[in-house]
Amino acid sequence: MEYENLMPIRPRRLRYNPAVRKLVTEYRVTPERLILPLFVCEGSGVKVEIPSMPEVYQMSLDILAEEVRELESLGVGGVILFGIPAKKDEIGSDAMSADGIIARAVRTVKKAAPGLLCITDVCFCEYTSHGHCGCLKKLPSGIVDVDNDATLEMLQKQTLIQAEAGVDMVAPSGMMDGMIGAMRDALDANGFTNLPIMSYAVKYASAFYGPFRDAADSAPQFGDRRSYQMDFAAVAESALREVELDVAEGADLIMVKPALAYLDIVRMVHENYPELPLATYNVSGEYSMVKAAALNGWVDEDRIVDESLIAMTRAGAGIILTYWAKKVAQRMK
Ligand code: PBG
Repeated sequence: MEYENLMPIRPRRLRYNPAVRKLVTEYRVTPERLILPLFVCEGSGVKVEIPSMPEVYQMSLDILAEEVRELESLGVGGVILFGIPAKKDEIGSDAMSADGIIARAVRTVKKAAPGLLCITDVCFCEYTSHGHCGCLKKLPSGIVDVDNDATLEMLQKQTLIQAEAGVDMVAPSGMMDGMIGAMRDALDANGFTNLPIMSYAVKYASAFYGPFRDAADSAPQFGDRRSYQMDFAAVAESALREVELDVAEGADLIMVKPALAYLDIVRMVHENYPELPLATYNVSGEYSMVKAAALNGWVDEDRIVDESLIAMTRAGAGIILTYWAKKVAQRMK
C-alpha cells in the first residue's frame, strides 16, 4: 500500500513514556541551587509559626543551630538570615553591634554547620523602629525620606559586623544608590577582599512582600518604599541600568526580585549578563498564595512548586531563594 506520510514529525513520540520523557528533560532543580530564608529572633526554644506563612518560623539561636545542621545534611545550597532584634531604634543599632542578633546568628550557623553557605540580608528595615531601610531625614519640602548617603555609612558598619562574625556572602537589599560600592570599599579596606556580594540589584516595590513584613516585623510605620525600590511599571530596561551600576561597583552575583511576576526581567538580565551568576527571590507573597490555595485543596503544592522553580530556572535564574528550599530537598532525598 502506498500512502503519503502527512505527519513525519510527531512531537508526542518524545513524550510517549516516562523513560523517554526523562531522557529529553533539559531543566532540573537541585537543592544545592536553592537558598532558604530564615528569620532569627531572641530567646531560647522559640519557634513561632508566621500566621501568613504556614511552615515558616521565627526561631531562636538554639533552634537555628538544629535547623542548619539538618539543612547541611540535606544538601541545601545555603541560608539567608534575617535578624529580628529585641529592641529597635531610629538607626537600627542592633544590626551594627557585634552582640546583635544577626552577628550572633551568623556565628551560630558557622559553628553548627560550617560547610553550609551562610548569607546575610544587609538592610535596616528589620532593625529600625520606623521600619524603613535606612535612617531618615526631612527633605526641604517637609517630606521625611530615607537618607541615602548616611545610610551607606550604616551599611558599611553592618557589613563589617557580619563579615567579622564569619558570614560567607552579604546580600544588600535596601536599594540605596551606591550601596555596593560602599560595602565593597569597607570590606576591602578591612581585609575581606574575598567576601562576595550578592546584590538585590533589581528589586521592585511589590505587594508580594506583604507576608515577609509579618515574618520580619518590618512593615514601614509610615509611607512605603517607593522612593527607593523600583516601579514595576517603569521602563523594563531600567533593570539593566541597575545591574550595570551594581556590577561596576563590584557586585559578584545579581538578584531579581520578586520572581514569578518578573520572569521577563530575569530573562532580560540573563541574556544581557550571561557571565554573571543570577538569582531570583521567590518571595513571601508568592509562597503564601500557593500555600493558601494548597491548604484549601485547590492546587497540588508540590507540583506547583516544581513548575514554578523550573520556570525560574528556564528564565535564566541559576540560583533561587525560596521558602520551599528545605521541603524540595527533603522530597528529592
Ligand atoms: C528587606 C527585605 C525584604 C524582603 C527581603 N529583604 C522586604 C522589603 O523590602 O520590604 C522581602 C522578602 C519576601 O517578601 O519574601 N529590605
